[in-house]
Amino acid sequence: MKQQPEQPSVYVAMSADVVHPGHINIINEARKLGRVIVGLLTDEAIASYKRLPLMTYDERRAVVAELKGVDEVVPQHTLDYVENLRALRPDYVVHGDDWKTGVQAPVRQRVIETLAEWGGQLVEPKYTEGISSTRVHQSLREIGTTPDIRRRILRRLLAVRPLIRFMEAHSGLTGLIVEHTTAERDGIPVAFDGLWLSSLTDSTRKGRPDTEYVDLTSRLTTVEEILEVTTKPIIYDADTGGLPEHFAMRVKTLERLGISAVIVEDKIGPKRNSLYGADVGQTQDIPEAFGEKIAAGKAAQTTDEFMVIARIESLVLGAGVDDAINRGKIYLDHGADGLMIHASQTDPSQVFEVLREFKGETPLVVVPTAFSHVTEAELAEAGANIVIYANHLLRAAYPAMVQVAQSILEHGRALEAEEHCLPIKDVLSLIPGNR
Ligand code: SPV
Ligand code: MG
Repeated sequence: MKQQPEQPSVYVAMSADVVHPGHINIINEARKLGRVIVGLLTDEAIASYKRLPLMTYDERRAVVAELKGVDEVVPQHTLDYVENLRALRPDYVVHGDDWKTGVQAPVRQRVIETLAEWGGQLVEPKYTEGISSTRVHQSLREIGTTPDIRRRILRRLLAVRPLIRFMEAHSGLTGLIVEHTTAERDGIPVAFDGLWLSSLTDSTRKGRPDTEYVDLTSRLTTVEEILEVTTKPIIYDADTGGLPEHFAMRVKTLERLGISAVIVEDKIGPKRNSLYGADVGQTQDIPEAFGEKIAAGKAAQTTDEFMVIARIESLVLGAGVDDAINRGKIYLDHGADGLMIHASQTDPSQVFEVLREFKGETPLVVVPTAFSHVTEAELAEAGANIVIYANHLLRAAYPAMVQVAQSILEHGRALEAEEHCLPIKDVLSLIPGNR
């Protein structure tokens, strides 16, 4: 009964990550018009304008194909419908009327123009109020996550997005900021994809130097704080990783906690922060010896998902682009799952040269602290896949705190500092569970 060629064809695009009554309503409206073809957005298409779906394309496809009224499911590779519409030339497209404004408005316009090429029609049933996958996602986030679910998100993100962005967190509070802050860029909602557990900001927030002085136990206290209040994937800054056998044990610990990746840098001896460059007598490891450390870490992990990323310090220490590229190749040969190319110079051209060499071959990480004028689009174009804003929340908080402390000292009261402070009722409502 389903296969009636003379029936009009009706195209319905959807993500169907969390199937709710709104989807059923649209399918019911569509089937009144004819044979229903669902254009199921691929993970890439969804991640291009909103969050990564909870279920993979294949899982979502399995669900949608079984829904009553769905005759066929085809992949839609972009948010834009045009390619599929031209291929299928449906008589109708059905979509809820909520897309007349917002991110999807231009998409809708192109649907109307394309359908006009063969006299097709757009039908827009009233949007089902009060339910949306975004709301369901939010509720799921409030419930929390598990180590397994969290760990695998990084690889999934890398598979579907050209560039993902991580922000440092060094406490539960900064973790909440990275988890929840959103903004709009060119009409598209943007958020951070994950959290960077910086050794610099964790050491600094503890009032200690960034020299591997803060030990693993203390670092893990911070990790635990952040794990408690966030669901996004975490990349852990392991400094030099210590002895290969100790690094292997750290990998196991981090992996068990649900951390997605560790970044380990190719320096030896007393470590100093990279932003000092070569001025403080830092030494790089012998490439093969560092490769062995990577291999020890890879051999220790239990899951397929955990990533060991090798951090190349050649540009920081003045060893040059060729040395960085040579080391990158050796580290990859030893099993590294990605490379971080670090630099402390304002001019990013050397970083770009190394990125171009490895572009598309392996996930590439950059930390544009010194070259903060470079945009994400430029970094992505050069080949970067992960951009880490490594220290900005801590750097923002410090001057604000000092200013308030000084103001109270100067005025002998706190009134003048109030305008720089979050109102106390907002502090209370910031954290769930205060009431
Ligand atoms: C960190 O954030 O601790 C880093 C990056 O390792 S950097 O401070 O630039 O060395
Ligand atoms: Mg560090």
